[in-house]
Amino acid sequence: MKATAVAHPNIALVKYWGKRDLEFNLPAAPSLSLTLGGLLTRTSVEFRGDLDADILNLDGQVFTGAKLRRISTFLDIIRALAGLTTHAEVVSSNDFPTGAGLASSASGFAALALAASSAAGLKLGARELSVLARRGSGSAGRSIFGGFVEIFDGTQPLDSSESAPESAPGERPPRAASDAAFARQIAPPAHWDLRCLIAVTSSAEKTIGSTEGMQRTQESSPFYADWVASVPADIERARSAVLTRDFHALAKTAEASCLRMHASAMAALPGIIYWNPTTVALIETVREARAQGMPVFFTIDAGPQVKVFCPAAALEECRDLLSRVSGVQQLLETYPGEGARLV
Ligand code: PMV
Repeated sequence: MKATAVAHPNIALVKYWGKRDLEFNLPAAPSLSLTLGGLLTRTSVEFRGDLDADILNLDGQVFTGAKLRRISTFLDIIRALAGLTTHAEVVSSNDFPTGAGLASSASGFAALALAASSAAGLKLGARELSVLARRGSGSAGRSIFGGFVEIFDGTQPLDSSESAPESAPGERPPRAASDAAFARQIAPPAHWDLRCLIAVTSSAEKTIGSTEGMQRTQESSPFYADWVASVPADIERARSAVLTRDFHALAKTAEASCLRMHASAMAALPGIIYWNPTTVALIETVREARAQGMPVFFTIDAGPQVKVFCPAAALEECRDLLSRVSGVQQLLETYPGEGARLV
């Protein structure tokens, strides 16, 4: 009853910010991402009859309290599916800073969904795994797949053949809205050799987690409804830009999606600002470089790091550009990565 899985984080090009349902963790709108090779989470899960509680070991440290409760609640879903009552030991490690807006919850819950469901004897297809991972963290549903990925909000017709891909053998078609909010790959990693440089501007844990930030935005931001309404058109634009490898169209859509997400959060009460001065300096640097003809764009999640995209051919130039910005502590290089897998 033991299994080990690895998964990469992903970065949203069209952001997810807001929940339609808290219990099933359903997103208010779809989102679209790139899975990031070069950063890895490795998670082992063992269900053991001798344990009287779950154990969580993350990056060599044993956690109790809220972090453990979040994992136990997630394992309860798997225990219910598998008819198990035993507790589990979860050992997970990231080869990148945890909890600082580098999407460790995405790779973490993707690897956990795969390792724990396998250890419990469940044989889930990729679509079912994405539904399961999404219950742990909305963005984790996307990290089950490699390359360019979109996740539905679950409001599309359940039998819609145009939006729902064919089920893999052994996979059940979605029956409920919670099952319909699954991810799918829109293009494999080899489709487009984009590079994403992550400019780390602070390694401190973020102060407002994404769930809390989303909730506050939903409850108090006058821009929230307009933000949600703007997402479907951005999904169409981004999907088409990815499929046609149109860098400038993707740049325009991804930056707009990022800035609208942050604008909706900044307009909450009290306003949420994830940026620091280096974050802003990087935004300006990237925009100036693009105005001068360099193929480059930025996106930012619920933290101060700036993720900068460029084609592989512009990587050196882009690395030079970012390393000259004062306050950049580290540059992590990523590329289109594979989906979650057992090891
Ligand atoms: O998966 P969560 O609940 O940590 O939310 C992720 C939110 C953003 O990273 C800000 C945007 C996204 O789509 O990944």
